Amino acid sequence: MEITELLKKMTLRQKIGQLTQYNARLFLNDDSYITGPDKKLNLSEEDIMLTGSVLNFFSAGDMKKIQKKHLENDPLGIPVIFMLDVIHGYRTIYPIPLGLSCSFDPELAKSCASMAAKEAAASGVQVTFAPMADYVRDARWGRIMESGGEEPLLSGMMAAAQVRGFQGEDLKDNEKLAACVKHFAAYGASESGRDYNQAECSVRELYDYYLPAYKAAIDAGAKLVMPAFQSLNGVPATINPFLYKVLRGEWGFDGVVISDYNAIGELIKHGVAENEKEAAAKAFSCECDMEMCSATYIHYLEELINEGVVSEKQLDKAVYRVLELKKELGLFEDPYHGADEEKAEKLYLCEEHRKLSRAAAENSAVLLKNDGVLPFDKNIGSVAIIGPFADEHGINGFWSCAGKNEDTVTVREGIEALLGRGRVLCAKGCGCEWDDKDKSGFDEAVALARRADAVVPCLGEPQNYSGEGNCRTDLRLPGVQEELAALIASANPNTAAVIFNGRPLVLSAIDECIPAILDMWFPGTEGGNAAARLLFGQANPCAKLAVSFPRSTGQVPVYYNHTMTARPHFTEKPEHKGYTSDYIDCGNLPLYSFGHGLSYSRFEYIQMTLSGTELKEDGAITVSVNIRNASDIDGSEVVCLYMRDPVASVVRPVQQLVAFEKISVKAGETAKAVLEVTGEAVKFTDGEGNRIFEKGEIVLMVGCPGAYLLKESIKAV
Ligand code: NOJ
Repeated sequence: MEITELLKKMTLRQKIGQLTQYNARLFLNDDSYITGPDKKLNLSEEDIMLTGSVLNFFSAGDMKKIQKKHLENDPLGIPVIFMLDVIHGYRTIYPIPLGLSCSFDPELAKSCASMAAKEAAASGVQVTFAPMADYVRDARWGRIMESGGEEPLLSGMMAAAQVRGFQGEDLKDNEKLAACVKHFAAYGASESGRDYNQAECSVRELYDYYLPAYKAAIDAGAKLVMPAFQSLNGVPATINPFLYKVLRGEWGFDGVVISDYNAIGELIKHGVAENEKEAAAKAFSCECDMEMCSATYIHYLEELINEGVVSEKQLDKAVYRVLELKKELGLFEDPYHGADEEKAEKLYLCEEHRKLSRAAAENSAVLLKNDGVLPFDKNIGSVAIIGPFADEHGINGFWSCAGKNEDTVTVREGIEALLGRGRVLCAKGCGCEWDDKDKSGFDEAVALARRADAVVPCLGEPQNYSGEGNCRTDLRLPGVQEELAALIASANPNTAAVIFNGRPLVLSAIDECIPAILDMWFPGTEGGNAAARLLFGQANPCAKLAVSFPRSTGQVPVYYNHTMTARPHFTEKPEHKGYTSDYIDCGNLPLYSFGHGLSYSRFEYIQMTLSGTELKEDGAITVSVNIRNASDIDGSEVVCLYMRDPVASVVRPVQQLVAFEKISVKAGETAKAVLEVTGEAVKFTDGEGNRIFEKGEIVLMVGCPGAYLLKESIKAV
């Protein structure tokens, strides 16, 4: 099908229809399709028939029903395109993106996305609203769980890997999805960590921190882009000219831009459009091609074209992009793109997918602390699993799509599967809601802790405390969990806490009383099995934090790649000095920094060798690092290379990741990581948005922020 030929046959209304997207429920309830909130959209039956895209449906059956009905009524036979938020799995759920980012393993992220694409495509999905490439420093913001964390390079590599996993080589492959990178841009900078709130960012911050991960996803071939909900520097992202200049102009993105949910309609609430007509004119003029779930295009674009406010030429351009996407997915030949209920049922939770989900959970879990308690001996007499997450199925995380809590393995189930039932004791102890003050379960919990040979407090925040619209002002464990943890730890020192969370939490109180802490994030379907294997040494932790954990909420935002102040005073404990950049009541180092993560192996960084010491703008220097596993446990280490630019024309970060490699090192052996620093990597952005390469010293550091093990200087020439 030639798109230009097809365009010639289309009426204005048919073209505009291609630019609209509505909820599946509008199409499924035949008699009452315009009910409830949808009534406000004021859509006619004709508008619905013209709709080019549908979102939010959860079975191949529903998708097929909608597509079939549509094709029977569409004289040109243009298929509907089906989209959904497939974020960290479809029915088999893998760890939340923030957790997966801690694996520092883009190949793993790619495999997970590919697995999700298979299940989703069989269920009728053709486009996923993922990856989310928002750069985030504020743990209060609930959507941090969808992000790759506080490091632009890492986030970008993880986002690009997901795009490759979702899309594969050929979108016609009916096990693949087109990827929509979101939310462009700087949604993660929402002020106060409050969702949908305004963001104010300098050009320098945007280019150096907030934009790179979107760019990486687009360079990896993402077919769609979704503008963010919030305003950036005074203009909503949906119609922000700076953002479109970067996207369409500088980056040459010519794919589909689709608004976020009702974001064009919400331009009125933002106070930048008087009415729907003006909202449509503004968004369409910016080249926001498709409108999700508001109805300004379908109601007003025709009028706007007739009045000459927007041109039919631009309409053709937008429609062309949408039809081209449909063509690339092969929808004109196969409008169902492999949707198949039976195939889907076979894929859901199949052995292969569960195995990958478990591997992903094991590789994403960060061992935050271990004073020699872990791993527990598998032959231990008894273990007490205590706390609100001891036997909790709700550990999939906020965007778990078609995932079901009941499919997910709890910690109790995982440990029972590993040790056998007879040796496992379990008590809830308390709840985990912020206002849950009930301590009536404490006595039973403490009694079990005393009786058992080892204790695993399973603590955290409920999975609906993060994700869209779920922000917090207090990042401590909700309710009375800290108190429970302290009592358990004093009852039995052989204790290792397991934490479930969608964001960095303030774990200072836990860190003070518990000798070992394993952060599982929201690990997905196989979470309990993964936790059990890690606790009992069947798997060796290898993840590093993709985001820093504050000591207290008041430190937020606290992140590793901050700039130097003229009066620094970095301490762990409050040691207030006066007239320095510190706090009276808290140290200003995070409790656990980006890059921190322990292993059961003991790695020694023994040698750093450089291929040269002069770095040209278009050149590169190879940095080889020898790592010895000085323990008797095989393990993997994420070897990170950081840089510092001590003197520049602008204030530069105190440390910045430039490369990393995850290597496996057998017990007693030495392996080499080969990393590269390029001229491009040491550049930065000036106040006008220019990328600058400045001559002078660059310090290269290997290890972890706060604990660099090897250092060398090079010269940018
Ligand atoms: C709103 C969210 O911001 C976005 O991430 C999501 O893709 C859409 N809703 C569609 O569900």
